Amino acid sequence: MIRIDSVTKRYPDGTVAVDRLSLDIPDRAITVLVGPSGCGKTTTLRMINRMVEPSEGTILIDGVDSRQQPVNTLRRSMGYVIQNAGLFQHRTIVDNIATVPRMLGWNKDKARARARELMERVGLDASFAKRYPYQLSGGQQQRVGVARALAADPPVLLMDEPFSAVDPVVRKGLQEELLRIQEELGKTIVFVTHDIDEAVKLGTMVAVLRTGGRLAQFAPPAELLSDPADAFVEDFLGADRGIRRLSFFSSAGLDLLTAPIVAIDATAEQLARAAADAPYLLVTALDGRPLGWSEPAGLTAGQVDAGQLLPYGRPFVAGRDSLRAALDCAVLSPTGWAVAVDAEGRAAGVVSQSVIGDAIRGAHAAGREQPQAAPEIAAAAQKVIR
Ligand SMILES: Nc1ncnc2c1ncn2[C@@H]1O[C@H](COP(=O)(O)OP(=O)(O)OP(=O)(O)O)[C@@H](O)[C@H]1O
Ligand SMILES: [Mg+2]
Repeated sequence: MIRIDSVTKRYPDGTVAVDRLSLDIPDRAITVLVGPSGCGKTTTLRMINRMVEPSEGTILIDGVDSRQQPVNTLRRSMGYVIQNAGLFQHRTIVDNIATVPRMLGWNKDKARARARELMERVGLDASFAKRYPYQLSGGQQQRVGVARALAADPPVLLMDEPFSAVDPVVRKGLQEELLRIQEELGKTIVFVTHDIDEAVKLGTMVAVLRTGGRLAQFAPPAELLSDPADAFVEDFLGADRGIRRLSFFSSAGLDLLTAPIVAIDATAEQLARAAADAPYLLVTALDGRPLGWSEPAGLTAGQVDAGQLLPYGRPFVAGRDSLRAALDCAVLSPTGWAVAVDAEGRAAGVVSQSVIGDAIRGAHAAGREQPQAAPEIAAAAQKVIR
């Protein structure tokens, strides 16, 4: 564990960048530092690998004061990724990634083999190996930056706004890739961003810093959204935190109706039976995939025209997706009903806005967030809130 213990950084000109910050950064999880520009995020990250030395306080790595470790050993145990990747422009992609292994004395073939393995892991096509950074898109360069930081297999990854220079679609892809890599490799990641949505999406734990380098709140994202510590955090979380909080509630408990689902070849009798239960019927293809909605009166057995159906929008995956996805689906649906599908995309049931509303009220009452952090991590977080 990385323990930041009452650390202050005062730059020579008197600027206090970080003010008595204490954080217990859990192992094998993503801890996000988030806050407005100039609140001391980069300074904090750099104090962890001693690119910046604290003015006061200590940073303990697995219980050992980081000042007692040779700085090279310390940095070797921590990969570092920055905005715009910071690649060596005159080196090929494969040699960029192989940089640290080469520095550690690996022979060229072994280092390049490792680099190619990492390219695959971060989702880069092998054909990029011999290209130079300028021949890659921003998002691809960012993947190279992540691969380079992982090359020597360090237990810790420090990431300073790594995805902020790419467009939202690429960014989403990189975020998902990072979550996947984290799941596979179990690194201890400290991730800096000024984007609260990114923080909530990636963080096991999120530290919100305020200007002047003071900690405003350190909590799992669901808890930030449900219980912001003060007006600053609440403001920083933005206006729709209630909706965003629904991301942490599972759709598993929703009561799905199957009666209003009819196949495109339904008989008159089947149509009549389905119509008894719901104002709209969901018509599916023969393989069970949804095609669209119709009022019962609009359907005649044997003559259903898929082109005449109302669109069913974006369905949610029952149990896997959140209540937020289910609600979004219902809100976007012309009928006000959401379509749930199974993992294969077959209609699993339908559910109305009002039933989703009941589930939201029930979930809030029970505080039934899906656990985002192991209880001991959450407890550790509680301890350091000052
Ligand atoms: N070398 C330095 N000398 C003096 N002041 C510095 C130095 N580096 C940073 N600062 C100041 O310390 C404060 C924190 O800077 P830091 O770079 O840690 O912020 P940040 O949260 O990473 O901001 P951003 O989101 O803009 O990257 C700022 O007021 C900054 O101007
Ligand atoms: Mg910064």
